[in-house]
This record gives sequence, C-alpha cells and structure tokens, in this order.
Amino acid sequence: MALIKTPTQLNLIRQAGQKLARVLVDIKTSVKPGVTTLALDQQIGNLISKERATPSFLHYEGYPYTTCISVNEQVIHAFPSTYQLKEGDIVTIDVGLWYKRVCVDAARTYAAGAISDTNRTLLTTTQKALQAGIAQAQVGQRIGAVSSAIQAVAQANKLGIVRSYTGHGVGTAVHEDPSVPNIGVKTDGPQIRAGMVLAIEPMFTLGSGDVYTENDGWTVVTVDKSWAAQFEDTVIVTPQGPEIVTRLLHKVKKSDIV
Ligand code: CO
Repeated sequence: MALIKTPTQLNLIRQAGQKLARVLVDIKTSVKPGVTTLALDQQIGNLISKERATPSFLHYEGYPYTTCISVNEQVIHAFPSTYQLKEGDIVTIDVGLWYKRVCVDAARTYAAGAISDTNRTLLTTTQKALQAGIAQAQVGQRIGAVSSAIQAVAQANKLGIVRSYTGHGVGTAVHEDPSVPNIGVKTDGPQIRAGMVLAIEPMFTLGSGDVYTENDGWTVVTVDKSWAAQFEDTVIVTPQGPEIVTRLLHKVKKSDIV
C-alpha cells in the first residue's frame, strides 16, 4: 500500500476533505435532544450524496451504516439506532467518504443541548490533544511524536486513553499503514514523510480508558461506563508542515477587506 500519495491524489484528498468538513459542520445543528441517531445517519448520507461522494464506512468489513454514532459511554463504532438523544448526551459522529478514488475520515464529539462542565472539558481536551498530535506530524519526526503529544494532553488532564484503537494512514483505503497510536514515545515508530496522509484520532474517557466490544461485534464501550470523546481529522504531511484537510478552509469575508 502506497504510503506516499501523488500530487494528483493529494489534490483530490483536499477536495474530499472539504466535502467531509462541510458535512460535519452541516450536521451540527441537527445534533440536539429528540433526534434519533438513525435520522442523523440518514441526513449525513444525504449530505454526502449532495457532495457527489459516497460513504466509505458503509459495507466496509460488513459495517451496515454510513456513520458510526457513539453516545456517552459508547466510544466508537456504535450503530445508528432509534435511540433519541437526550439533553446532556455527548455524541461522537465518525464518518468517511470516497470521492474520485480517494477517501478521507473524520470524527467530532457533539453536545446534545447543554452538557456538564466535566463533559465539556472532556470534549475540549480531546480536541486539544488532536491539535497537539497534528502539530507533531512533521517531516523528519517519527509517528511516536504524534502519539506522545496526544498522550501528554490526556495525562495532564487525568483522562483515560483508549489504547486498543489507533489512528492510521488513509487516502486510498479506509485504513492504511502506518498505525498512529494515541500513546507512545517520541523517538519510536515509522518516519513521517512528505506526502503521507494520516487520520489522527485521540479517544479519551473520564475513566480508565479500558474498553470492550459488545455482542453486535462492533460497538466499543468503556468497561467502567465512563463517557468518552473522540476527535479525528485527515492530515496531509507537507514539507511546510501538517495540512488539515477535513476542516473548512477559511473563506475571505467582506468584513476581512480593509
Ligand atoms: Co479513522
């Protein structure tokens, strides 16, 4: 599997990333008490179609939905369902799409209505860890630099790290090499090279970080029932530094013109 993408592939990955970024922004207002996670899944399917893209998780290793929507103590890979969100829930939506033979992957944890301060801190800290990890995705460093930066944020904030799942290469398959753990040593792991495309995805919990998979074979839940958050972005490693493709590019507004 090619770890280094061609300039043509990288440009498509940028376009695909903007499509996914728009989907994740557009869905935000729908994540509120009363909505079912299945309705969110369907809405995201429609948004992906409007982008002229196709969902990458659907049928991947037999996965039956467009998105993974994991609520509260569910960590990842939960099925969308008829569960209606309640005020105070935290909701991780993980979604990927294919566009012209490239794919991208991203996740956000959203708040359903007002959430507790503790849960708000869980969300912002996990986001901070993603940012710290991305900042280390630099040519010449090793994957361990990303991992150790993420680990440090969790530990400084006394959050549990989910260790049994990792980030990964992405771009021409849903999961590619290298694996990008959320714990590690700065000098360990493969060298980071220009043209690599990485999905970086810290998963933190308010407890130990230990998880198990439910009988459906997919849903990953915390052992101690503590609530969990995950933020994921697809990042291109460029000679100038990491480029986050799954966030909206800043558009110049009239008010920016002086
Ligand atoms: Co991923």
